[in-house]
Amino acid sequence: MIKKGIILAGGKGTRMSPLTKAVNKQLLPIYDKPLIFYPLSVLMLAKIRDILIIVNKGQLNQYKKIIPNGNNLGIKITYLEQSYPKGLPDAFILGEKFIGKENVSLILGDNFFYGQSLTKQLEKNTKLKKGARIILHKVNKPELYGVAKINNKNKVLKIKEKPKKFLSDLAITGLYFFDNKVVRYAKELTPSKRDEIEIVDLINKYKKNKNLSADIIGRGGAWLDTGSIEDFYKTSAFVSAIENRQGFKIACLEEIALNNGWIKKPEIKNAINFYGNCDYSNYLKRISR
Ligand code: G1P
Repeated sequence: MIKKGIILAGGKGTRMSPLTKAVNKQLLPIYDKPLIFYPLSVLMLAKIRDILIIVNKGQLNQYKKIIPNGNNLGIKITYLEQSYPKGLPDAFILGEKFIGKENVSLILGDNFFYGQSLTKQLEKNTKLKKGARIILHKVNKPELYGVAKINNKNKVLKIKEKPKKFLSDLAITGLYFFDNKVVRYAKELTPSKRDEIEIVDLINKYKKNKNLSADIIGRGGAWLDTGSIEDFYKTSAFVSAIENRQGFKIACLEEIALNNGWIKKPEIKNAINFYGNCDYSNYLKRISR
């Protein structure tokens, strides 16, 4: 069982400057909540309660204003600062102490997932005991992502970061499940041409050892991008359309904690006081009646 998760919310968000000059991208809104709520909700749906959030140096206080420590959600949140982005696998080097002897899941702080069978799929993948598992999703522009070519048994034949020549249209999403070797493997990596250690190199180590598997989010699920300002608006529009149609909120952290049995209805009062008079609190009032 994977019981620990890391959210990598470092990075300078340069593609979204000037919005990101003073505030981290993951604190900017996707419709009615900060972006960070969405990846956090994914880990919570996976029943992961011990979570490390890695943030940019200088932004820690901002994060703590929104997500102080997890007590109110029945989870444990630890923060770590990253002085500068050294590549995604740095999460495992920085997080070595947090990970300890356990297996771990990583989600990138800007990844958005949604779908009917998401929770089931997450729970299945947290059962991983050995090796690494990547989560794939078909996209129109695979050249923008890490890409995996698989055979009809979902065996990974090849993976490549942002391939210029078409390899496959299955993108490697920013949600990964690893066994404890990940820490050692991450330390062995050498920086690429762009002077960063690369997640694809890390995954390739597992592939070489025949310890890599893949799971696919099908067309009934959504994996959306928040890489550019345009993507931010599109993802916000998606959330707004679903939420306003159904009356359910996506990534309401307290609701997930309540459904998981981690908090009780009266505890939601604290959250309502914390957020103040707003639409999110009105929703919390509704679900805690
Ligand atoms: C990173 C990874 C890439 C992955 C993507 C998912 O890309 O390097 O393999 O497909 O996240 O969001 P980046 O967003 O850093 O360009």
